Amino acid sequence: MKVSDPIMIRGKEIKNRLTMAPTVKFDYAGADGMATEKHLEHYRARAEHGCGLICVEATAVAPGGRFWKNHMGLWEDAQIPGHKAITNACHEFGAVVLIQLNHTGITSNPDCGPAIGPSAVPTRDPNVLSKEMSLEEIKEMQGLFLDAAVRAKKAGYDGIQLHGCHGYLINQFISQKTNHRTDAYGGSIENRARFGAEIIRMIREACGEDFIISIRTVGVEPNVATAIGIAEEYVKAGCDYLQVSTGIEWDDPTLVERGEPYNLICSLGVRFHEHFKGRVPVSCVNGILDPELARYLIENDLVDTVDLGRAVLADPAFCEAALTGAPFVKCFNCPNCQYGPGMKHKCPAALKRGTIQA
Ligand SMILES: Cc1cc2nc3c(=O)[nH]c(=O)nc-3n(C[C@H](O)[C@H](O)[C@H](O)COP(=O)(O)O)c2cc1C
Repeated sequence: MKVSDPIMIRGKEIKNRLTMAPTVKFDYAGADGMATEKHLEHYRARAEHGCGLICVEATAVAPGGRFWKNHMGLWEDAQIPGHKAITNACHEFGAVVLIQLNHTGITSNPDCGPAIGPSAVPTRDPNVLSKEMSLEEIKEMQGLFLDAAVRAKKAGYDGIQLHGCHGYLINQFISQKTNHRTDAYGGSIENRARFGAEIIRMIREACGEDFIISIRTVGVEPNVATAIGIAEEYVKAGCDYLQVSTGIEWDDPTLVERGEPYNLICSLGVRFHEHFKGRVPVSCVNGILDPELARYLIENDLVDTVDLGRAVLADPAFCEAALTGAPFVKCFNCPNCQYGPGMKHKCPAALKRGTIQA
């Protein structure tokens, strides 16, 4: 297998194994959550330089479900045209494009909305507890994800990705640290996965058989075996593609460095691929900053696709480098990625490349 080999997901051909990881662009949108010209140019450039699949950043399904007040949403129809411009630009260069749908739940920014979640647990402010969602509120929330997915389809997305990791709402249902429920949404693996699995079924029903449904799921919560059990529930519900990252709790003695040329977070995707091989494509993420590592992961059949975050933020030409050996500027691996919110310094690689101004 080579990074340039295509892969089919839900009948759609992804032209290579290089996928752009969802990476939120803080402050590109205003509080109205509208996609802007800046988003359009940002995603167009990544498509133009060869990403086979682009997963557009975490996008809020409700104004209250944001971690930062200035970022994109898909909670109302007026937001569709901005997204349509993004999907058109990506399609023009032959990329398949998904959008990551999210609600921040108990970690919601208080300026945006109340902290709500599966249980009453400490929020961003440890002295304030979240509101435990009633069964009606769970149904309403699932409806918000569904409505956003329907809008995504209208906007021309090839599918959606549920944000099921990094401690946000779907992950909060999975983690026993944040989910203490004793009803059908708490307790067993099946019950904790139910919130996300039901959303997948609802979206499949409404958006049809040719719509890709992916989830960025936890690779460890608190251990890998449990996380694989959770992903099995999503697959049973109709999930087509798993991207694997981290969750809330990490307590797994089997996760030790074994001298692999990739880090432990990346190794979660490799473990999932071993388990789901031949059934569901799996992507790994984290620390793939070198084209040689991207090639190694694919050529050794360790995963189906590689998910690129900072590498393609730093320089969209990373994909061409992985495909053809073309020159690119490597991410400096800054301790706090300088693309994060409120960062005083600008990305040194993007400055060097000239894609941003000093
Ligand atoms: C600026 C920035 C924004 C991010 N936004 C998201 C996001 O919207 N959704 C998500 O699942 N992960 C997000 N992440 C995590 C990345 O997708 C990725 O998992 C992480 O950066 C590690 O991969 P990398 O080493 O290739 O950058 C973000 C990371 C960065 C640096």
